[in-house]
Amino acid sequence: MQEKSINILGIETSCDETAAAVVADGRIVKSSVIASQTKLHEKYGGVVPEIASRAHIEKIYPVIAEAIARANVTKDNIDAIAVANQPGLTIALIVGVTAAKTLSFAWDKPLIAINHLHAHLQSAMLSEEKLQLPAPLEVPIKGPLTLQGDLLLTGPAVALIVSGGHTCLYDYRSPLQPKLLGHTIDDAAGEAFDKVATILKLPYPGGPSIEKAAEKGNPNAIKFPRSMLGRDSLDFSFSGIKTAVLYYCRGQDMKGENKVDSMSARQIADIAASFQAAVIDVLVKKTQRAAKKIGARTILLGGGVAANNRLRTALQKMSDSDVPPKKLLVAPKQYCTDNAVMVASLAYYKFKAGLFADLTLEPKASG
Ligand code: KG4
Ligand code: ZN
Repeated sequence: MQEKSINILGIETSCDETAAAVVADGRIVKSSVIASQTKLHEKYGGVVPEIASRAHIEKIYPVIAEAIARANVTKDNIDAIAVANQPGLTIALIVGVTAAKTLSFAWDKPLIAINHLHAHLQSAMLSEEKLQLPAPLEVPIKGPLTLQGDLLLTGPAVALIVSGGHTCLYDYRSPLQPKLLGHTIDDAAGEAFDKVATILKLPYPGGPSIEKAAEKGNPNAIKFPRSMLGRDSLDFSFSGIKTAVLYYCRGQDMKGENKVDSMSARQIADIAASFQAAVIDVLVKKTQRAAKKIGARTILLGGGVAANNRLRTALQKMSDSDVPPKKLLVAPKQYCTDNAVMVASLAYYKFKAGLFADLTLEPKASG
């Protein structure tokens, strides 16, 4: 007899996206709903925690209701409620955690706590192949999708997670036990993209703006520093390159005006392209270093910055030419930035392992 499939409702509110999704057996996406707050934070050039929290409170119920309706399920065929409870903005996380605990109690369903970064890792295990997806509320999904990464992992993998808040390398052997190998000691890669975009007066959010501006620029125009932090280090540092861009635009003594206003579009494009190339160089070299260290044959890439085409191509090139070559699993673009599919998908493994949380679950800023 065929085993009954497990439907999990996933909830994500760690930063500036209110998201809910229903995923069956960790791999069949029945619905994915995302209410993005980009417009609300745009004028501040970054996420304002109080505004984020308030917007989550407004959106959480309609987003969950929409996810359930689109999945064409009722509470009776939902097997568990999963929620990202760490790391993130505490006053944002608490909205998702409270909603998940309430549903778990009211519907008498098990509660599953998910680490947001481990969920980003899981999104790299999703690959666009066999299954047809329903369209999500705000993120257009092109093409079919399946979860097959777990079948492809035949040994240790190195996973690179690059997001607005984190830059991490993991030794990844199973979805439930990623081991941290290194992380940023100052700014995250996405944060550096966002801050450099502000210096260059490019629109928010910075990552996609820098990528767009860089298309017309020369990545070799300016030699920005590439911080490798010692021969064996698997940690990252991106504050130096951000400062280098700032000095380039305002002079070493910071007394000059920001020259960006008087720069040509070509000059801005050159700065964006040179900055982007330097960040990608470091990300790729450190990933290669980590793969060598643990003997990885597979590389996983996820997180918001993983949406960057140059990064995807550079990592692919390294993976193909490395000795021995590595298999690269990259999160589909619509699952790079925050979403609840990655939460519900990872929760399936916890469900199977019986790893449940209880109603004392709290949000945690770190993780
Ligand atoms: O994973 P995510 O949605 O949120 C966090 O968990 O932090 O990542 C958001 C980050 C932002 O810093 C954004 O600028 C960056 O991902 N990002 C990009 C691109 N798209 C988003 N960075 C570089 N290139 C992109 N195309
Ligand atoms: Zn994230």
